[in-house]
Amino acid sequence: MATSHPEYNEKTSATDVASAFASQIHNKIVVITGVGPNSLGEALALAIGGQKPSKLILASRTEAKLLEVAEKVQKLSPNVSVEAVVLNLASQKSVHTAASKIQSLVDRVDTLINNAGMMVLDRQTTEEGIEVQFGTNHIGHFLFTNLLMPQLKNAAKVSGPGLTRIINVTSAGHRLSPIRFHDYNFEGKKVPIEERPPEGLPPMFSPSAEGYNGWLAYGQSKAANILFTVYLSQHLANSGIVSYSVHPGSIWTGLSRDLDDAGYETISKTSNVWKNADQGAATMLVAAYDPALAAVSDPSAIYLSDCQFAKTAPHAVNADSAERLFRLSEELVGIKFAL
Ligand SMILES: NC(=O)c1ccc[n+]([C@@H]2O[C@H](COP(=O)([O-])OP(=O)(O)OC[C@H]3O[C@@H](n4cnc5c(N)ncnc54)[C@H](OP(=O)(O)O)[C@@H]3O)[C@@H](O)[C@H]2O)c1
Repeated sequence: MATSHPEYNEKTSATDVASAFASQIHNKIVVITGVGPNSLGEALALAIGGQKPSKLILASRTEAKLLEVAEKVQKLSPNVSVEAVVLNLASQKSVHTAASKIQSLVDRVDTLINNAGMMVLDRQTTEEGIEVQFGTNHIGHFLFTNLLMPQLKNAAKVSGPGLTRIINVTSAGHRLSPIRFHDYNFEGKKVPIEERPPEGLPPMFSPSAEGYNGWLAYGQSKAANILFTVYLSQHLANSGIVSYSVHPGSIWTGLSRDLDDAGYETISKTSNVWKNADQGAATMLVAAYDPALAAVSDPSAIYLSDCQFAKTAPHAVNADSAERLFRLSEELVGIKFAL
């Protein structure tokens, strides 16, 4: 499986990708999560907003930041209809409210970009008591996506197969941890070998005496983003909806806002190539709009990095884990979803 622009790479910008796929964006109803100034969500909104979507729905936690970006998009693209919806993924009540609000605004969603994310090193929990990175980065998006499924299916009926897409933004950090089904809250419970981090990680990736390690918890949440994509792409094929998972690259954004000096240093060493936000959002737009990606031909070809297909850690594309994660996620939100 290949993209239609093999020349795109880590330097390609979202603005250029959006312009190349302008006809795919035109008239689409787009929902983007995780939008604030200087974030990848902002870069996505600006790039997509410039290509005449029918409606751009920006959903994120902080209303003032959302409105700032909405205003910026509107200024650059005065004819685009932009809506700001408050969504706190760390509160299932808020996810339900946000999904209902979106359902009152539109009857179809063509593109859902689950981009919001957080990284913290100390233990925190969601309103429901779930470890906060797993709860926000995966469980919140799991619930949000499933609640919007009727609107996504409506879009697929109108547009035809492969043009309705769910993009889950992950990270190369997914390699740090498989899903710890026996200890997803990192509480020091014993886990079987296949749920442990890869061998040979430096000591900073070791869980504390209480069982927590923020890097591993981030890694688990990002592995969950890919496994959710695996499940969606397998179970939605007949509905005409496709799903891809994207590593945006390394970009200095608000993601590192809660890190201490040692955390900053660790992140600085993770890459030799640092992108600006416009370049960071480019791969998401290839995944969302490249017509060559209208069908998932190989179940493991669902992950892109630097605008091209890339390989994940094996634990992130294991079909049994994808099924198991879907069931665990249903349990944690208290709803069963038939796709
Ligand atoms: N930057 C990188 O180098 C990098 C690398 C790999 C993967 N990623 C992924 O890229 C995505 C975007 O991150 P970014 O770099 O743009 O970081 P960012 O600047 O921190 O943006 C993250 C966005 O998510 C929102 N958010 C955080 N918690 C939320 C919650 N509970 N409910 C709703 N929205 C929430 C934030 O809102 P507030 O600002 O209002 O809190 C913000 O708008 C994330 O999924 C991240 O894991 C980034």
